[in-house]
Amino acid sequence: MKKLKIFETFAGYGGGSFALKKAEIPFECVGYSEISPLPIKCYDQNHPNIKNYGDISKIDFKDIPNFDLLTGGFPCQDVSFNGKQDLKKGRTVLVFNLIDCLKVKKPKYFLFENVSGIYSNKFKDFLIDVVLQFADCGYNVYHTMLNSSQFGVKQNRDRVWFVGIRKDIQFKFRFPEPTHPKINLITVDGKNGMCKNKKQQLDRVYLLSSGISCLTHSFSKRMVFDGEKTRELTKEEYCKFMGFEDGEIDVSDLSTNQVSSLMGNGWDVNLVSKIFKNLLENWENHTQANPTDLSFNKDLTEFNKLNSQMTLQVTSLNPNIMRNFCLRKNLKSPETINIHTPTYVGDKK
Ligand SMILES: C[S@@+](CC[C@H](N)C(=O)[O-])C[C@H]1O[C@@H](n2cnc3c(N)ncnc32)[C@H](O)[C@@H]1O
Repeated sequence: MKKLKIFETFAGYGGGSFALKKAEIPFECVGYSEISPLPIKCYDQNHPNIKNYGDISKIDFKDIPNFDLLTGGFPCQDVSFNGKQDLKKGRTVLVFNLIDCLKVKKPKYFLFENVSGIYSNKFKDFLIDVVLQFADCGYNVYHTMLNSSQFGVKQNRDRVWFVGIRKDIQFKFRFPEPTHPKINLITVDGKNGMCKNKKQQLDRVYLLSSGISCLTHSFSKRMVFDGEKTRELTKEEYCKFMGFEDGEIDVSDLSTNQVSSLMGNGWDVNLVSKIFKNLLENWENHTQANPTDLSFNKDLTEFNKLNSQMTLQVTSLNPNIMRNFCLRKNLKSPETINIHTPTYVGDKK
């Protein structure tokens, strides 16, 4: 069987590679991009002999061998409810480097990820601009928010997933359907709701058997009651709450603090393996049509066709984004443009 070639950006511990292994899709990683020492150490230990191309903003994508799948959980701090929610900080906008990579390498597929804050009203214009630019690179784009607990991992982890399929590839994607009810978090002292800081989070003690709140990079330590005593999660438990089976990831050289912070930033490999199964299980047989015509569909009907569950009227957006978009597309100001918009699992109409 032909190996799928991947390039893993914002690689962390390599959630994309782990999930492909779990989904039993043969693959070869042509390289990764990561700048922080701890994720690099963990990545190299678990996926040896893969070249790190370093800072994505400095990569000349022409230097990278061709690949079929681009992955990237681009930084979330600037849209996260736990942060300052300010795009000017310059981290979440690194998504535009993914867009540059798509333009140069034109892989067949991509999977990108971010936090639920990117779906908030504050970032509506940004989200739509980004999705339109993905599409503009020649991709049919699907995005939605999924909660890890609805796929079998007992963590209340909402993440937004963006799947792109190059337009010449004749394949209609569907996100996996939930297999479990959404988690009902139980704290020993009855405290609930979102924690505003580390101290509040550390004061919460979750009943281990009922599951934990969302692990994040900044508040990653979790206290649990295991039936006998109150304690911090072990390294192995942190990994389990990100979808790893025993022994699937080697974190033996790392401290508990290091593991919890890596996991807080990582991909739930159980959920991602399900997304990959739906997208790539049969990728070699996806037929290609008209491979040279990757141009954007001027009247945007493709967006409308893709998903009619919920639509958003783009004319209500920031006029500058609208004007630039129309200029780029050579469009007369259209009355409305419907795009393939967020669909929340459980809220489908
Ligand atoms: C949300 S995490 C992604 C985690 C990853 N998906 C995983 O499975 O562990 C974002 C990662 O991007 C890395 N990063 C931030 N800026 C970067 C840059 N300019 N170039 C490459 N990586 C970067 C961070 O160090 C962090 O590990």
